Amino acid sequence: MKKIYFKNKPIVCLTAYNKFFAEMIDDYCDLVLVGDSLGMAYYGDKSTREVSIQDIIRHAKSVKKGIKKSILVVDMPFGSYKNKESAKKNALKILKETKCDAIKLEGGEEVSEIINYLVKNSINVMAHIGLMPQKIKKKKDYRSLGKNYREENKIIRDLISVQKSGAFSVVLEAVKEKVAIKVMEKSKIPVIGIGASKECDGQILVLEDMLGFFEKTPKFVKKYLNIKNDIKKAVKKYSNDVRFKKFPTKKNIYI
Ligand code: KIV
Repeated sequence: MKKIYFKNKPIVCLTAYNKFFAEMIDDYCDLVLVGDSLGMAYYGDKSTREVSIQDIIRHAKSVKKGIKKSILVVDMPFGSYKNKESAKKNALKILKETKCDAIKLEGGEEVSEIINYLVKNSINVMAHIGLMPQKIKKKKDYRSLGKNYREENKIIRDLISVQKSGAFSVVLEAVKEKVAIKVMEKSKIPVIGIGASKECDGQILVLEDMLGFFEKTPKFVKKYLNIKNDIKKAVKKYSNDVRFKKFPTKKNIYI
């Protein structure tokens, strides 16, 4: 198993679902994730639960073509790690077909045996605790966690168990800043935050969210571009050009 370590800190991470976006972000990232947010951000699904192993492999193979230096991590889809054996079989399939460096799976204490089994079988595992989108069935459950002692304690227990199991890093999603601070005090592995404050060792966002593909995004997203508007403007211009016979011009035709 190739040992994964991060050269830079804070650690910069983004998602990508195809070669062309991967090529654009590789120079600036330490880690690129083919996340199962693919379902929502690319296919327009209601949740991440509809993404299949075939879907994630197809997109990860494309992303791999665009990556030269970043660590490539691929999400294990919902239902693909129900027990140790299915987790191993599916993780090995993802690794073999996509040539990624590691897989990511959601869960804390409840998946710690699975993580440990994968690590013992030479598979690099990134864990994902705090808000776990694969567990969410209703929109109202998308909220920050750590509002009371019970929630806070569960997140800390999850961190301790995934790091004991051998995860090389952990994503911490949508938790109150005070919980992120406690997680950082206890963590011995790099913690990558998404909606978990700047206390974390690094940050990750869904690329489409930060580029402004969507009007509605979680509070933790900062939009660095309003690409939706730019695309609409460009398409409107093209449409006018076609209707008013301004396109194609001499430059665009074969003579
Ligand atoms: O699926 C995903 O894109 C993720 C990140 C947002 C952490 O899990």
